[in-house]
Amino acid sequence: MPDFSTYPQRRARLLDQMQRGIAVLPTAPEKVRNGDAHYDYRHDSDFYYLTGFAEPDAVLVLVAGEQPQSILFCREKNPEREIWDGFRYGPDAACEKFGFDAAHAIAQLDEKLIELMGNQPTLFYPVGANADWDARLFRVREAVKEKARSGIRAPNEIRDVRELLNEMRLIKDAHEQDIMRRAARVSCGAHRRAMQFARPGRFEYEVEAELLHEFCRHGARHAAYTSIVAGGANACTLHYVGNNARLLDGDLLLIDAGCELEGYASDITRTFPVNGKFSSAQKEVYELVLAAQMAAIAAARPGNSWNAPHEAALRVLAQGFIDLRLCQGSVDAVLESESYKQFYMHRTGHWLGMDVHDVGEYKTGDQWRPLQPGMILTVEPGCYIRPSDRVPRELWNIGIRIEDDVLITPQGNEVLTVDAPKTVNEIEEVMRHA
Ligand code: GLY
Ligand code: MN
Ligand code: MN
Repeated sequence: MPDFSTYPQRRARLLDQMQRGIAVLPTAPEKVRNGDAHYDYRHDSDFYYLTGFAEPDAVLVLVAGEQPQSILFCREKNPEREIWDGFRYGPDAACEKFGFDAAHAIAQLDEKLIELMGNQPTLFYPVGANADWDARLFRVREAVKEKARSGIRAPNEIRDVRELLNEMRLIKDAHEQDIMRRAARVSCGAHRRAMQFARPGRFEYEVEAELLHEFCRHGARHAAYTSIVAGGANACTLHYVGNNARLLDGDLLLIDAGCELEGYASDITRTFPVNGKFSSAQKEVYELVLAAQMAAIAAARPGNSWNAPHEAALRVLAQGFIDLRLCQGSVDAVLESESYKQFYMHRTGHWLGMDVHDVGEYKTGDQWRPLQPGMILTVEPGCYIRPSDRVPRELWNIGIRIEDDVLITPQGNEVLTVDAPKTVNEIEEVMRHA
């Protein structure tokens, strides 16, 4: 069950940081997929972070100052529509259940905003995120300006509320850590299941179905992003989502998949042999990526810079690429010339939270920011070897990535995805007992 006390506390913290002014935060709109069918509804992350309210057609208004107020606008009760579409709270029940100071029908939003915006020095909202909301809030502000002769002023300053919110969301509170730990565990189970299911002759989409089944049966109805199930050479396409090829004996299978649970993402990649046994070339590259990943995880500690895990992974990979005759020269030369980028062209991670690529700055000024307890990041080095005359043939089409979700703790870190088999022995053992 969600802990509803968390949301008023978050609103209070944001109101405190606003000091003076009014914030308007709409949730996401519903989107038509085709005909009468909609895409599965997904709330806006910022709105949900502050409300826990998952219905569409809702807006949160916060008024800061000596008597801070948080006000929800939402759909009214509608017995006829509820027969078709299901339960909706309506303003009264939502106000009580989610702890707002007031709640009104969404149809009253503009009229009430004209009142609430009067004499507020600053308007906070997600500026530029949605052109319709930009236009709507500017119209409301113009309507407030028309009251100038009554001595009422419209906000002179407009600020992007995400400047404040992104920093709040970057440090995960205990409520969020608990959900993300559980999301990670469900996804670990899905990867384990995929390892046990995969074998030569099966199709990538059959493996994807196993992942989705495992997510769903634990209450995670959606993947946090489209699953990548990439056999053989497909693993060298970083965002491969075709997922429609047959798995071949002797190939590796790279799976990048994670569930969204209670609004939070998990993001795991594992790579394993379709037939359950790494070849010696596959094992050599795998052990290299694993060593890079372990070095990066060790560098994910409070006080170290955001870039420290990436730098640690790069050093290990550069040496490994030289040993494998993929790159030439010294480690420093490989790093300096960036020749490693032919085989490792992405960064080693990103913030993880409600969004799979979560919010939060990576630099303060021109410096990488220091890692702090409560931050959650992915650590995901890889190696992708496309066929080339300059590359030993036995390495062609090997694509490997290993990705874990890591919480920074006061002492160091906690790997949330520790239950997904990762070493060569662990993987071969799980696949042997399929
Ligand atoms: N699954 C998206 C990523 O790893 O960044
Ligand atoms: Mn990732
Ligand atoms: Mn991923």
